[in-house]
Amino acid sequence: QELQMNLEQIEKGGYEHFMLKEIYEQPNAIKDTYRGRLLADKGIIQMAGVEDNLEKFLNADRIIIVACGTSWHAGLVAEYVIEEFARIPVEVEYASEFRYRNPIINKNDVVIAISQSGETADTLAAIKLAKENGAFVFGVCNVVGSSISRETHAGAYTHAGPEIGVASTKAFTTQITILTLIALRLAKANGTMSVSDYQRYLHELELIPSKVQEALECNVVAEQVAAIYKDATNCLYLGRGYNFPVALEGALKLKEISYIHAEGYPAAEMKHGPIALIDESMPVVVIAPNKGHYDKVVSNIQEIKSRSGKIIAIVTKGDVQVKELADHVIEIPEANEALTPLLTTIPLQLLSYHIAVMRGCNVDQPRNLAKSVTVE
Ligand code: G6P
Repeated sequence: QELQMNLEQIEKGGYEHFMLKEIYEQPNAIKDTYRGRLLADKGIIQMAGVEDNLEKFLNADRIIIVACGTSWHAGLVAEYVIEEFARIPVEVEYASEFRYRNPIINKNDVVIAISQSGETADTLAAIKLAKENGAFVFGVCNVVGSSISRETHAGAYTHAGPEIGVASTKAFTTQITILTLIALRLAKANGTMSVSDYQRYLHELELIPSKVQEALECNVVAEQVAAIYKDATNCLYLGRGYNFPVALEGALKLKEISYIHAEGYPAAEMKHGPIALIDESMPVVVIAPNKGHYDKVVSNIQEIKSRSGKIIAIVTKGDVQVKELADHVIEIPEANEALTPLLTTIPLQLLSYHIAVMRGCNVDQPRNLAKSVTVE
């Protein structure tokens, strides 16, 4: 027993929980994901699984992404990125819905299955169905040699290293990284992005690990904010564009480990329902980086404020407008809009982590949840 305790402490590398360790591993995990694949100076992105099947991707009528949980959220980010960069239609499906709804799958479809564990039963079944219907199936997995990595025709590992915490953290950001690399590779081949934009993205991606490192400095503020809202019973997360899926993921993280009811919403949809819930006891986390739909998010924030909701805003360093309106701001470094999910995710992970710790929850092994769901 004692030996086991010590072993676990060693594995946690000085962190109190695996989740916190994994949150902090993200700069290196992202670097490991693009190592040998992103050669920014040469303008090259190379992934064997993509290169060997480039024609299939380029000739695809559409890409269907199947996944569950956090991996599904990474798929949603990928939808925005692939469509914007490579102009290939993308659909994102819950694997559990896809497998049972008699979906239309053609041999010109490319199915991307995303899974940290590579063992999720529903995702595995969705892959089998896609294969039976002649689609080309590409896997994005973290666990090497996992069932999904073996069942797919080709794939790319995220190389995030083992993720022990049940609530996924570094798997999410590394999935986004690899899917962004794929989007850029396809954009280059398709000619849907200018050479200068392509080059700029490559260099920006290389800077992401150090920006994630910088984003992690918000830990102190995240802890202070957590202390204020740890007893909340509900929480709303809002984001737009690339950060809409991040809002979903932020809400999922809070639900999973702190057992606070949380919902993620596209900010503009707030007026079609959630706005009715807003009062002085409702914390609303708004993802408001300075790019993209900033002005629209600012007006969403005003709507929350006029109903006395408490606003926790994730903003770009140097922001002034949101700072004036929000009750709390957590800053992330400046980045290209399409890459902001890799940064905005960080404070949301930390916020959930601290709230869960303060509520005395078992952060690494939340009740009723499993790390890999091998049954339906
Ligand atoms: C479980 C885990 C989640 C994970 C989901 C999908 O619910 O608790 O963290 O996102 O399964 O898992 P996968 O291994 O397929 O990414």
